[in-house]
Amino acid sequence: MTTAPLFNPFVPSFKRNPYLQYGRLREGDPVHRSQALQAWVLTRYEDCLAVTRDHATFSSDSHNARGPLADALLQQRRDSPVGDVSTVLGVDPPRHTEMRSIVNRAFTPRRVEEFRPRIEEIARDLLAAAPDEGEFDVMAGLAQPLPVIVIAEMLGVPPADRERFKQWSNAIAATTNLVQSEEMQATTRRAVQEIVEYFGGFIRERQQAPRDDLISVLVKAEEGGVRLSPEEILAFAILLLVAGNETTTSLIGNGVAALLDHPDALARLRSDATMLPTAIEEMLRYDSPVQGLARFTTRAVEIDGRAIAAGDVVLCMVGAANRDPRQFADPEAFVIDRDPNRHLSFGQGIHFCLGAPLARLEAEVAFTALLGRWPAFGALEGGLERGGTLLLRGPERLRLAVG
Ligand code: HEM
Repeated sequence: MTTAPLFNPFVPSFKRNPYLQYGRLREGDPVHRSQALQAWVLTRYEDCLAVTRDHATFSSDSHNARGPLADALLQQRRDSPVGDVSTVLGVDPPRHTEMRSIVNRAFTPRRVEEFRPRIEEIARDLLAAAPDEGEFDVMAGLAQPLPVIVIAEMLGVPPADRERFKQWSNAIAATTNLVQSEEMQATTRRAVQEIVEYFGGFIRERQQAPRDDLISVLVKAEEGGVRLSPEEILAFAILLLVAGNETTTSLIGNGVAALLDHPDALARLRSDATMLPTAIEEMLRYDSPVQGLARFTTRAVEIDGRAIAAGDVVLCMVGAANRDPRQFADPEAFVIDRDPNRHLSFGQGIHFCLGAPLARLEAEVAFTALLGRWPAFGALEGGLERGGTLLLRGPERLRLAVG
């Protein structure tokens, strides 16, 4: 008789390497009921794909969920100073279709590509401040500030307000951590209140005198007679900070960490920069910034013979799906020219990441700048400190030997 493999994301080894536990689950108990999380944990590629594509059964709206985890999520929504206002991420069709077509206008590939020279400049400026030789923390020095500065400029935040914006953004990013100290919670609440006041004024200004920034696009945009309310624009601006900054930071950090663990890949990339786009896809697959996606069942349903009740929480562990041998050849290997590479790191279906073109562009610029800045860089003993949560994965600090 075999016993179901244990899934315990609370042990320290999980933070270091969740892939061992994922592998055991995927092979032994792919539709796992976690008592600790009060959720179903899915680790196979096919199952994660099917769930994210079936939004009618697997809703993104936590109002559809029941149970203690769902109650905690709903309470978090109600406690927010923006109130229980929805964004694209947490609604289903038909509202999702309307909202998505409005916010899509703010993130057209053309609009993103227009930003390339400015992103290059920001990355260059950040690295100019780094030492020519010695030690460099790639998280504090590049991966953390780059996406925050980029999104601040896209939103239209003037340079004078950037420092305040960065602080708010950091505090708000901490909301993705389900376990927060009282002090952290208070800091986050203050930051959200401040940003709500700031953007409230900002949106009113843009309503009167639109400019060429993202907030102005959202204020003007209308779809079939429907607009976003000022509260929805505000919630969306905050979503961009939560969904876009930490994830892009982690892509750069996880990518550098993977290259340090695979010096051959790093050397290949140095000699042939045209590999960068496929290398970035492999960084996304190999060590995904978003490890899991939450869905809530609208009806009773069966997956692989397991009966899932209506209102249950289903976690699609894309970090595990990305290493499913049924989908990827040699999935534990880091192959920078892997092709095809249909990873699930940006999600799938109607909620597919709106910021994917921007995230890819920022990563390309960041790695080009890093490789160009020093003739060599390498790992430092104890230089990597892992951060992250059950659903997000990325380094806290990553110190390199440069020069
Ligand atoms: C490497 C960086 C990034 C990763 C790994 C990532 C990952 C994801 C994933 C997995 C989803 C789907 C969530 C779900 O299905 O529940 C998503 C949605 C989303 N992402 Fe990203 N993201 C990244 C960067 C960004 C950036 C830079 C932005 C914008 C500035 C952004 C904005 C969004 C938005 C608005 C959604 C919701 C789309 C919808 O619900 O229709 N993301 N992202």
